[in-house]
Amino acid sequence: MSVLTSPAAAGMASSAGRFVIEDWDNRVFRVNREAFRSEEVFQRERQRIWDHSWLYLGHESEVPKPNDFKARNLGGRPLIFTRDSLGRVRVYLNACPHRGTILCRETEGSARVYQCFYHAWTFANTGELVGIPDEAAYPPERSFVENNGLRSVPRMENHRGFVFISFDPHVGSLSDHLAEAADYIDLMADHAQGGLEVVPGTHLYGIRGNWKLAVENAMDGYHFSPTHVTFVEYLKSTGYVTSDEGGRAIAFRNGHSVLLFSGHGGRVGMQWEPRFGAEERVRTEANVKALAGRVGDARAKRISGTSRILFVFPNLILFDIEGLAARQLEPTAAGYTEVRAWELAPVGEDPAARALRIRVLGSFIGPGGLATPDDVEAYECIQRGVLATAGDSRPYVDWSDISRGMERESKGEPARSIDEAGLRSFWRHWNSIVEPVSR
Ligand code: FES
Ligand SMILES: [Fe+2]
Repeated sequence: MSVLTSPAAAGMASSAGRFVIEDWDNRVFRVNREAFRSEEVFQRERQRIWDHSWLYLGHESEVPKPNDFKARNLGGRPLIFTRDSLGRVRVYLNACPHRGTILCRETEGSARVYQCFYHAWTFANTGELVGIPDEAAYPPERSFVENNGLRSVPRMENHRGFVFISFDPHVGSLSDHLAEAADYIDLMADHAQGGLEVVPGTHLYGIRGNWKLAVENAMDGYHFSPTHVTFVEYLKSTGYVTSDEGGRAIAFRNGHSVLLFSGHGGRVGMQWEPRFGAEERVRTEANVKALAGRVGDARAKRISGTSRILFVFPNLILFDIEGLAARQLEPTAAGYTEVRAWELAPVGEDPAARALRIRVLGSFIGPGGLATPDDVEAYECIQRGVLATAGDSRPYVDWSDISRGMERESKGEPARSIDEAGLRSFWRHWNSIVEPVSR
C-alpha cells in the first residue's frame, strides 16, 4: 500500500490499495475487478459489512395487521418479519431453537403461532415457547422454556416506516448510519399525508452478477441514454424531450448517495407528463397544492420538482422516479445476487391514480419493464467480462475506471447526474470496511 498526496487537489485524499486506487494528481479512480469475482472478497464482505451494518429489511406496511408475516433472507440468514398478536413489528431468526429447522416454511401469510414440523415445538409470534410435546422429559425450571424462545435479531429500527435491522448488537444508531440519506427518505415519505404503503406483490429476480454492480448501475446516470435507448425513444414518441442539465450526483457519508434529475420522465402523482393523461393532470395539481399546504412551498418544490434515486448503503435503492419503489439486494455469492423490489404508493390514493402508477412503474423498472431488463443484461455482461483478467503483465486491463467528473470535483464544481461521484463515495466507504488503508 502506498499513499499518494496531491497538492493540486487539497483536501482530496489519494490512496492506492489492493482494490481501490484514488489518484487526484491524475484525476483517476480505479476499482480492481477482483472485487467482483473473488469469493474471498465475498466472504469478507459478509463478515465486515453484512454482519455489522444496518440492513434494509422491509416496509412496515408489508405486515399491516397483527399476525401478518413475511419470511425473507437477509445477510444470508433466514428471517421472519412479522407483526405480532400485540401489533408490534418483530424480526426473528427463522430457525427452530430446538435443533435448527426452518420454522416458517411459507413465504408470507398470517400466523399467531409457529409450529416446527420436526418435533412440533410451538412458538407464539410474541416469541415465547408455548408448546413442547412430552414436556415432562425436560427440566421443570421455567428457565428452560425462557431460554428456548424465538431469537430476535439483535437490533431493529424503523425510519418513517422503513424497517432496518442489524446482526450487530453494538452497531450505532440507525439515524447515525442514515446521516444525510434520512432526509431523502423523508422526501419520499412526505409524498402523502397518510404516508406510504407497499403495493401487494414483490418483484423477485436473480442476477448472475456481483451486488456491487447493481449499486454502481443504480447510481450511474451515464449509462442511461445508451443502455436504455428503447425507453428514451419511447419517451420521445410521447412528446417528451429528455435532458438533464440540472441533474446532480451527491455523495453522502457512510457510502450513501443520491442522483437528482430535473428533466427525466415524470412521476405519477407529483410530476405530470402528457403520457399520464388529462385526468392525472388534475390529480397531480391537487396533490402538489395539498403538499405545499402541508410542508410549505420550499419543501413541496423539492419533493415535487425533482426525480431521485437514493442508495442507502449497503442494500437499499429507493426510486422516486416514474413512481415510488424500493429495491433490496441480497448477495448469495460473488457472482449472484437476489433482488426483491416493491412498489410504494400513497395511502388512500385515488384508484385510477393507483392503477396508472402500477402500469407506469412496471413499464419502467419492473422485470418486464423497459429499463430493468437492460440493466440486468449490463450486470451480467460485466460479470462475464470481469473474468477476462489480463494478469500482472498488463496492469490496467484489470481495473475498472470510475473517474468521470473528478476534474469538475477537483475544481469544487457540483457533480452532474452523469458523473460518478456517487460511485466513488460507495467504493471509498466499501474500501474503508473491506480493505482499510491508512490515508
Ligand atoms: S427442530 Fe424444531 S421442534 Fe425439533
Ligand atoms: Fe439503468
